[in-house]
Amino acid sequence: MPTRGDPSRSRYPDSAVFYRDLERTYETAARAEGVWIEAGDGRRWLDACGGALTVSLGHARPELARAASRQLGAVSYVHGSQFTTRAMEEAAEALVASLPAGYRGSKVYLTPGGAESVETAIKLARAWALATGRPERTRIVSQRPGYHGNTLGALAVSGRDALRAPYLPMLTDAPLVAAPWCPRCPLGLEFPGCLVACADEVEETLTTDPSVAAVLVEPVLGASAGGFPPPEDYLRRVRRAASDRDVLLIADEVLSGCGRTGRFLASEHAGVEADILALGKGLTSGALPGGAVVAKPEVVEAVAPDFRHGFTFSHHPVVAAVVREALRILAEEALVERAAALEEDLRAAVETVGEHGFAEGIWARGLLAGVALRRPEDGGVSARDFARAAWNEGLLVYPVAGPARPGGGPDGDLVVLAPPLTVTRAELRILGKRLGRVGGALEDGGGA
Ligand SMILES: Cc1ncc(COP(=O)(O)O)c(C=O)c1O
Repeated sequence: MPTRGDPSRSRYPDSAVFYRDLERTYETAARAEGVWIEAGDGRRWLDACGGALTVSLGHARPELARAASRQLGAVSYVHGSQFTTRAMEEAAEALVASLPAGYRGSKVYLTPGGAESVETAIKLARAWALATGRPERTRIVSQRPGYHGNTLGALAVSGRDALRAPYLPMLTDAPLVAAPWCPRCPLGLEFPGCLVACADEVEETLTTDPSVAAVLVEPVLGASAGGFPPPEDYLRRVRRAASDRDVLLIADEVLSGCGRTGRFLASEHAGVEADILALGKGLTSGALPGGAVVAKPEVVEAVAPDFRHGFTFSHHPVVAAVVREALRILAEEALVERAAALEEDLRAAVETVGEHGFAEGIWARGLLAGVALRRPEDGGVSARDFARAAWNEGLLVYPVAGPARPGGGPDGDLVVLAPPLTVTRAELRILGKRLGRVGGALEDGGGA
């Protein structure tokens, strides 16, 4: 369908944009506010996934616009090797103050995004191993399924086979152990009878592999596993195993952090502290690309004075100003507590999918929820078709593409919901109604 000359819709190859999806016709988003995104012709979508599980404070917050604008008019850029700024200093202080008491004294390294946070965390773990006299430690243990970013270093530690496949010969070798993904246990076991056997895999790897510098985990599983909250004992045992062998624990809270699961960090549910945190997404509420690494003081002391690393856009003053303001809003509006309080409302809304028989599993932790869909051949629907049908009902949900289980097909079978933490109960009811209509439309064979 040609779109050239129509400003409301664009597609490849008519446009100069190299799109994420070269087969899709893109609507032009004209306005956004709160949980709503609007096209030029007035059609509105309820954003039930905050884009890529990112928009935590609602769309187009004027406070963030003012904070960015003020900083752009004062100091718009300095290089992190030459200057610091008030915004950077205050954002770092506010971030550490948002964390549990055990992180006091930690240091904040602002990054250009989530993958760069993970890359920074991995390199920091390696620098720490070298600085503490263990040059043989070069590897990072992580989980399958799991996702830590699309740069080659982050992809090397991501258990997402579909994303890895084309680049496999270019990825460094990292042990991928079974994720604590109970709905489709990679070990074929069942909780609680399994006694959290996936944690045994981490313990065994650390016992037998002297080349491990750090264990990298998603404390609440991310998009690749539908935002599933694992048994809390998993993280506690991984923490213990890492401490016992003097290996670092990196918690990737890019998706799960900044209040998404009803605590500032998802690892707080298990009462576990990491040595290094990776943050992103909700940290800027998506208003600017940005992320952060938080490192415990002992890690920083070990690598000081020379952690050879950095980006042109790390420690960016405008990103820092937005982070500082986003953290102020999060605290002032008690949005972390709000995410916890609305968990049952979100679950109730999502359960409408189950009424139509498409779901084989539903879970929620705070304002992060997931649906495992039945296979199309078992009367279910692919995630891609589900998301398309939702789009037609004015609802944005996040489909996890790629085979989430062996034979699952490239269109995925997991859908994730993560509305802005500012969502109201009334909007969650609209979400539920629209999800119900998606089920109805799919039953009628329409929508997709
Ligand atoms: C847990 C996790 N880590 C890292 C990343 C990478 O973040 P970004 O896409 O900002 O590079 C993501 C993105 O989805 C994520 O979910």
